[in-house]
Amino acid sequence: MRRKVSIIGAGAVGATTAQYLATRNIADIVLVDIVENLPQGKALDLLEAGPVIGYDCQIIGSNGYEATTGSDVIVITSGSPRKPGMSRDDLLRVNMNIVRSVTEQAAPLSPDAVIIVVTNPLDAMCHVALEASGFPSHRVIGQAGVLDAARFRTFVAMELGVSPRDVHAMVLGGHGDTMVPLPRYTTVSGIPVTQLIPPDRIQAIVERTRDGGGEIVRLLGTSAFYAPAASVAEMVEAVLLDENRVLAASTYLTGQYGITDLYVGVPIKLGAGGVKQVIEIELTDEERAALHRSAAAVRELVEAMRQLA
Ligand code: NAI
Ligand code: 2OP
Repeated sequence: MRRKVSIIGAGAVGATTAQYLATRNIADIVLVDIVENLPQGKALDLLEAGPVIGYDCQIIGSNGYEATTGSDVIVITSGSPRKPGMSRDDLLRVNMNIVRSVTEQAAPLSPDAVIIVVTNPLDAMCHVALEASGFPSHRVIGQAGVLDAARFRTFVAMELGVSPRDVHAMVLGGHGDTMVPLPRYTTVSGIPVTQLIPPDRIQAIVERTRDGGGEIVRLLGTSAFYAPAASVAEMVEAVLLDENRVLAASTYLTGQYGITDLYVGVPIKLGAGGVKQVIEIELTDEERAALHRSAAAVRELVEAMRQLA
């Protein structure tokens, strides 16, 4: 039997994730959305690309959850974008209710799944999925660090005129303005970028990375989906193929980095069953302070959710 990945939310990120995963041909895919006919239409369209691209996984669209039964991975992208006049708390309330509702429906049908949360505000939504699923925290993680690092890698590659494949980067913290790109842990084929790029240009790249989501919104009028979906697909593959990838993900910390009971982006070893290890890297006082500032911003959101509940 093939592995199964269910993607809740067949919008831009969900459907593009399905597309990247189908191309990898590593699992059957179920797309779920509340909009009638949307997941069915997108699933059928993707299925019909199979003969041309050369994949033969099953791709099903549904407005219900039955087809998700026995999933190995559940990806949660369902949510509402921030609309004009909507406050941060309004958005928080809307998306926490959506994430709670979809998790409560999907999790019992796939009790052994790994949940990858994508819906924003990301780190706060991981808390909702953790609570609503009742899963152990190593099986509930959030996608942010792969995307933020991908943006950092892209900008470093552009600066140096090198292949982005040779650039590796690490971005910690919450998925927002307070994220912590780490130039000291960013290398080009093992060479620290701090030896290749002057400090003022590194700072500009760090700022552009922090603003990476906003830059796309300003261009598109809606949020990014190609790079986010590619990042989710990378994480799904790591779990399905037990790859033990080392990447940053929003992870429930229980004292690591001096942070307790909070989802924050940190490096993990990701494979079958989810988080196999939280990797604690050495940080300077300045980097550690930035991570703690970012964690404080996430905690504020978690607190705000408590008030709204
Ligand atoms: P979208 O609006 O294109 O898709 C969201 C989908 O969720 C829609 O099709 C909608 O019908 C569906 N939906 C809403 N309520 C639902 C429910 N109760 N059950 C099932 N489906 C439901 O939005 P997009 O661009 O795909 O983004 C999705 C989320 O991912 C947003 O919250 C966005 O901010 C976030 N995001 C997170 C990133 C990250 O790195 N963590 C990167 C990019 C987006
Ligand atoms: C992004 O970083 C909006 O989280 C989304 O593009």
